[in-house]
Order: sequence, then C-alpha cells, then structure tokens
Amino acid sequence: MLADMLNHRRAVRHYDADKKVDSEKVRECLRLAQLAPSSSNMQLYEFYHITDPETLKQLAVACLSQGAATTAPQMVVFVTRQDLYRERARTVLDFERGNLNRNSPPEKVPGRLKKSEFYYGKLLPFIYARCFGLLGLLRKILTLSASLFRPVVVDVSEADVRTVVHKSCGLAAQTFMLAMAEQGYDTCPMEGLDSRMAKRILKLPRGAEINMIVACGIRKEGRGIWGERFRLPFEDVYREI
Ligand SMILES: Cc1cc2nc3c(=O)[nH]c(=O)nc-3n(C[C@H](O)[C@H](O)[C@H](O)COP(=O)(O)O)c2cc1C
Repeated sequence: MLADMLNHRRAVRHYDADKKVDSEKVRECLRLAQLAPSSSNMQLYEFYHITDPETLKQLAVACLSQGAATTAPQMVVFVTRQDLYRERARTVLDFERGNLNRNSPPEKVPGRLKKSEFYYGKLLPFIYARCFGLLGLLRKILTLSASLFRPVVVDVSEADVRTVVHKSCGLAAQTFMLAMAEQGYDTCPMEGLDSRMAKRILKLPRGAEINMIVACGIRKEGRGIWGERFRLPFEDVYREI
C-alpha cells in the first residue's frame, strides 16, 4: 500500500555493506520515476545511475563525505536539462501530432493541432530560453502588461522557469524514492553537496544542473535512521478554504 511505502521511506544515512542492491531493480525504479508528472510534459531531466565504485567514491567527497554518501552502494544523480528545451519541445510535439490524430474527434484535429504547434513550437521555446536574465525580464514585462486585462502565468522570469524545471525533476526523484521503498530499498535525498565538483565528476555540460543526489542502499539496523521522525502538527500546515 502507498501509506506503507510512505511510512517505510526515511532519509537513511548509513547503509549495510553486507546487503546487496540489484542494479536492475534500481533501473526499474528509475523507469517508474519517469511516470512522474512534469511541467508541460517537457521532462527536462536526466538520471545518472552510479554503480562504478571509483565514481561513487568521488561523488561521496562531492557530497561533503556525509554518511549517506560514503556508505551508499549506489547513487542516482537527478540532473535538470533546461538547455534541452528545444529538442524536448520538438519530441513532445511530434508525439502530440500522432496522439491528436489517434485520439481526437476528426473535426477537432486541425484546431487542436494548431494550439499544440503554437504551444510547443513557439510559446515554450520563448518561455524556456535564457539570456543573462534579459529574456526573463522581457517575458515579465509582457505578462504583467497582459495581466492587466486577464489572468496569465506571471512567474516567467529566468529564475521562475529554472524553478519550474527543478520542481518537475524533484517530483521524479520523489517518485523514484517511493518506488525504491516498495522494493524494500532505502534512499537519502541530498542537496548538501558541491554541485560544481559533482558536475565535473560526471562531465556534465554547462547547461545541466544537479537537482539532488539520492543515495541508495539498505539501511544498517540501529544506525541507518537518526531517531524518530519529526513532522509539524498537521493543523500547522493544513488550511481548508
Ligand atoms: C531536497 C532535499 C535535500 C536533502 N538534503 C539532505 C542532505 O544533504 N543530507 C541529509 O542527510 N539529508 C538530506 N535531506 C533529508 C531530510 O533531512 C529529511 O528528509 C528530513 O529530515 C525528514 O526526514 P525523513 O525523510 O526521514 O522523514 C534532504 C531532503 C530533501 C527533500
């Protein structure tokens, strides 16, 4: 059950060296992670599944040698690829063309096609483009002007769009961690890391960004979890309107 997985998943900081993790199962969890929703279905992320001992050692240093990293038999680096927006938009649009033809009433196809072509062919490439903050400023001016007349998406600065990309990648990471919990595997999401060093180790291109590194393994009984789980009282975070 989902509730069991949510309760089982803890941030595990020490893994059992005697308990092996099956790479194929981890890969399967990453396939499931791809089922996470992503903004405009752009899927601007990549998953680097690290099983090579030498790379694990180097990445553990980049993760500030924290216990979760030094004891993890495998890691997954969740990487955002905003720089791939043009090709991802093209790929999604290609799929949408076929999807519309297969699944829309014939008389609706031309109109829907036109909307998708505008959205993926023109609007998204404009929204995802970056140029030292300047394009974001231009988008902000345009959307704030339009918002005087009707509701529009106003969070379109370059920082806003970068957040959008990281949000979707984070959802994929969480989906992965839940899939791992279902397998009886443990994880620890980490952002306490030297991202420049991690990028260098993985030879990532300039446009790639580390979203988080997830340590993977099986918890060492008595050491894996740092005590009880703490959550705020539900009433402190829940508002019904
Ligand atoms: C984005 C993110 C980054 C995190 N970074 C670290 C980290 O660098 N090191 C660490 O030990 N835990 C890290 N954590 C784990 C949190 O500390 C942990 O999830 C929180 O204390 C709640 O504990 P629980 O996951 O066991 O419920 C991170 C969690 C998230 C979501």
